[in-house]
Amino acid sequence: MFEKAAEKIKNAKIIPVAKIQEKKDAIELARAITNGGMKAVEITFRTNDGETGLEKIAGCIESIKKEFPHILVGAGTVINANLAQKAQNAGADFLVSPGFNPKTVKWCVEHEISFFPGVCTPGEIEQAIEVGLNFLKLFPAEVMGGTKFLKSLAGPFPQTVFIPTGGINAENFSSYLSCKNVGAVGGSWMCPENLIKEKKWQEIENLCKKANFPCIKNC
Ligand code: 3PG
Repeated sequence: MFEKAAEKIKNAKIIPVAKIQEKKDAIELARAITNGGMKAVEITFRTNDGETGLEKIAGCIESIKKEFPHILVGAGTVINANLAQKAQNAGADFLVSPGFNPKTVKWCVEHEISFFPGVCTPGEIEQAIEVGLNFLKLFPAEVMGGTKFLKSLAGPFPQTVFIPTGGINAENFSSYLSCKNVGAVGGSWMCPENLIKEKKWQEIENLCKKANFPCIKNC
């Protein structure tokens, strides 16, 4: 299910994960990311400003999509159907969540919204397979055992492809990408919160370029 979006994510290979809620900053961030050679971005629904903050985040997704239509824009931390609806209205290309919430999954499947929920146990993977989902976020990847965990999952779940996130960084991302059951990796290491706060767009661009270059060589 959701093969088209999954293929695009596999093609992008690396998804910078960002916490941002000001539209102007979102545009600058997207510019830095594209200049850095990235083809996708995930904007997380994470805010200390309640509903107003969530609306602003949806506005960021919408603005990036309008200004940079060629980038794949994902909505992250989609922990309920209400956020899934917001992400869809904003024009997100795909949705991800940290965990496997059967209610959100059901809602997205019924509404044909490309959703790649997070899993971190074989039981959750089985539940995903049961509803036809074979492309899943793996979170938190590194503390769950990283590439060793992924290799163990390849045996019982040969049909499942993962997007590991959580603890992925400049040093370990290419080892994740070399796992046969990894379609792409996600992480905030290219656009950490402090650089966004300080509007250090050039540094973000450089971090993306650094991640992009070895990937092109190795993948
Ligand atoms: C996510 O939501 O995917 C993670 O918070 C990203 O994890 P990281 O900050 O460890 O990269």
